[in-house]
Amino acid sequence: MKILQADYIYVDGKYIENSAIVFDKKIEYIGSIDDILSKYPNIEIEKLAPNSVIFPGFINTHVHLEFSSNQTTLEYGSFVGWLRSVMSNREDIISDSDNKTMRVAIYDMLASGITAYGAISSYGGELEESIKAKQKVVFFNELIGSNPQTVDMLYSDFLERLELSSNYSKENIKPAIAIHSPYSVHLIVVKRAIALAKEKQIPLSVHFLESSSEKEWLAQSTGEFREFFEEFLNQTNSLTTKDDFLDLFNGYSTHLTHAVEVDDDDIDKISQNHHSIAHCPRSNRYLGGKPLPLKKIIDKDIKFSTATDGMSSNYSLNILDELKSALMIHHNININILADKLIESITKSANDILGLNGGVLEEGRDSDIVVMRLPNEPKSMDRISLWTILHCNEADKVYIDGKIVYQKI
Ligand code: BEZ
Ligand code: FE2
Repeated sequence: MKILQADYIYVDGKYIENSAIVFDKKIEYIGSIDDILSKYPNIEIEKLAPNSVIFPGFINTHVHLEFSSNQTTLEYGSFVGWLRSVMSNREDIISDSDNKTMRVAIYDMLASGITAYGAISSYGGELEESIKAKQKVVFFNELIGSNPQTVDMLYSDFLERLELSSNYSKENIKPAIAIHSPYSVHLIVVKRAIALAKEKQIPLSVHFLESSSEKEWLAQSTGEFREFFEEFLNQTNSLTTKDDFLDLFNGYSTHLTHAVEVDDDDIDKISQNHHSIAHCPRSNRYLGGKPLPLKKIIDKDIKFSTATDGMSSNYSLNILDELKSALMIHHNININILADKLIESITKSANDILGLNGGVLEEGRDSDIVVMRLPNEPKSMDRISLWTILHCNEADKVYIDGKIVYQKI
């Protein structure tokens, strides 16, 4: 059993003072120092450095570790331009993203306070390092393939990967399903994968409306995507529309990644079906996307996470970098309200989306705990989210299941 005392603890969306947290593998108690001294008289209290803030571990719901080696290879600025560069460089990037590169990427996430991540896995390449990772991993086996001739083969490969990742559910790996996108997966297998997620009751995710080109292709089979499909896949028409595609997910809460091109009707449908959104502001900016209409999403009470995406469309997997960027992008939301929402998006909301037992500091939750340290005493308790995002770049300490797994030097 361990007791940590900090100047501030993030409980129920607010910051409390003069308190401490008691934990073993699970959180036992959070309360005032006086209460804790009388309830646990024989346990030493570790007092953290001044201006420390205790948070639940941060959760990154969407990362592609298999592309971790990319830095100066892929084209930024337009989605289809980027996709073409992925098609031409995929093999080199994948082979350069060896275990060591992925290990460093996983460690970088840990240093920024990430205690759980959703790995979007195209080939299963990050399974080995994810099993060794300190973090909890929701392993989204990805299904891709629009060509009817190869779709059955790709589906059985996907099933094998799903099965393989299921062997480690007693360790830190939780199997899950990702359908690549409405433009890249044949509807026959999309339906099978959704049915499988429902049957197994496992998390389901899909990239959805990431670019204006995708939206145009789904609506009228024209634009940059048409040239891309003619060239690479000998295809001239979209196999679905955005509405027909989204309707396939009705009744099963799904994690929609990006969704920057959603209109008011899509937002209503997303809300009615209790879908959630992975908000990846840096990735969207680099690939020529619009900002997510976050204000509308918040107003409709749609759950969203803020996530890094992979190094294929980012310069770091540091979740605090991601939040800093999000603050700059959504200028139509009051910065203090936005900062609180962003902290919620990488804790409680991300936890609910991935179906884990962390995300909030309360009795019975896993002891996934992050300590951040502000540079000076905060003059207002209502601004701690904002000042944490602005001034912190690295965690001071990280605990997973009650064990210390990272300490700043
Ligand atoms: C496919 O495998 O069918 C595909 C992959 C990437 C973009 C579009 C289609
Ligand atoms: Fe992605």
